[in-house]
Amino acid sequence: MKLNNKILLPDASEWERYRNDFPILKKRINGYPLVYLDNAATSQKPRQVIQTIVDYYETLNANVHRGVHTLSQISTDAFEQARIKAQAFINAESHREIIFTKGTSNAINLVAYSFSRAFLSPGDEVLVSALEHHSNIVPWQIVTKERGAHLRILPMNEKGELLIGQFSNLISDKTKIIAISHVSNSLGTVNPISELTRIARQHGIPVLIDGAQAVPHLKVDVQALDCDFYCFSGHKMLGPTGIGILFGKEEWLNKMPPFEGGGEMIQSVNYNDSTYNELPFKFEAGTPHIEGALGLATAIDYLLHIGMDSIHQREMFLYKLALNRLSDLPGFKLVGSASDKSPVLSFLIDGLHPYDVGVLLDKQGVAVRTGHHCTQPVMDFMQIPGTIRASFSFYNNEDDVLQLEAALKKAIQILS
Ligand code: ALA
Repeated sequence: MKLNNKILLPDASEWERYRNDFPILKKRINGYPLVYLDNAATSQKPRQVIQTIVDYYETLNANVHRGVHTLSQISTDAFEQARIKAQAFINAESHREIIFTKGTSNAINLVAYSFSRAFLSPGDEVLVSALEHHSNIVPWQIVTKERGAHLRILPMNEKGELLIGQFSNLISDKTKIIAISHVSNSLGTVNPISELTRIARQHGIPVLIDGAQAVPHLKVDVQALDCDFYCFSGHKMLGPTGIGILFGKEEWLNKMPPFEGGGEMIQSVNYNDSTYNELPFKFEAGTPHIEGALGLATAIDYLLHIGMDSIHQREMFLYKLALNRLSDLPGFKLVGSASDKSPVLSFLIDGLHPYDVGVLLDKQGVAVRTGHHCTQPVMDFMQIPGTIRASFSFYNNEDDVLQLEAALKKAIQILS
């Protein structure tokens, strides 16, 4: 460990030890060592998370909240402990504010459908930003159309920064909710959430934050951010797929109707009517993704063991190293140059299609994502078909950056 800006940073051998926890990183792809730079799409899993899932099925498997039998009670305890771990991870005030979902999209859909049923009327407005993933556009588009309401867009500049100065002008008494990403998945911009929530608070408008790309890389404190809803996915932060979290302030969740009906979310049912369970269960219909929640809890332990500040510094070091090495290559053009960035390096090579570059990188063992990254309006604004996106995690290393550079050089040679 070494001290850097008062943070105890793991040294190179410790980072290498963490890297060794990820079995898949030993794999070779097309004859080359795997260089996994598609972390914004999904992260790899350490063996601790994988083992949690194996242990669950080998020693704990039983449905939760339902059985008087011992196994069900142990399983329920583990599941509820996972909820408390998620609560602490984002510093929510109560475990009742933590809803297990399938992931970020499912969490946003839950709020969009439930909130709009209770609070959206014809002529009302929902404000999203020009940086959103389709998951934070389409659900709002569907519900605003259903309710005769309208979608408003907070614009951005060519660096990929939101025009915060226009935020207040776009808000009116018609604005019923604001939905904005914490970090852009395609450009890596980190948005000034506290500034936005402070203004929204003055107008009494709730704010939903899509935190899918923030939670794996930054320390998130929902009370400090003062947001009303915060959504994130397990699979982008070392956890399993199919599990995510919706944080919602109790004040709102209590006023919102259930999203889905089924077992668990009810108190009583007859053929005329049903009454609903208390929070958080009111929003958790059906048997939950139990091993997913347990795997997520282990992922949280893993991240906290390293420390989110250390992770952030490590990832930004790798991002800057990559930017530095690649920016001299012929035709390199960075897409998204916001002053506050996460470790997402989106770029183009003049005259080359991102897809062709992506295929040639893969042939050399380098996994990146190419295309519009589920942000077509961002690409339309930039007037490009898509980008090549290398997204970093703390378990990447300097060799990964060098292999990316070498593979990109070769791809440019072949395609030019
Ligand atoms: N939202 C994920 C990405 O950006 C899938 O790749």
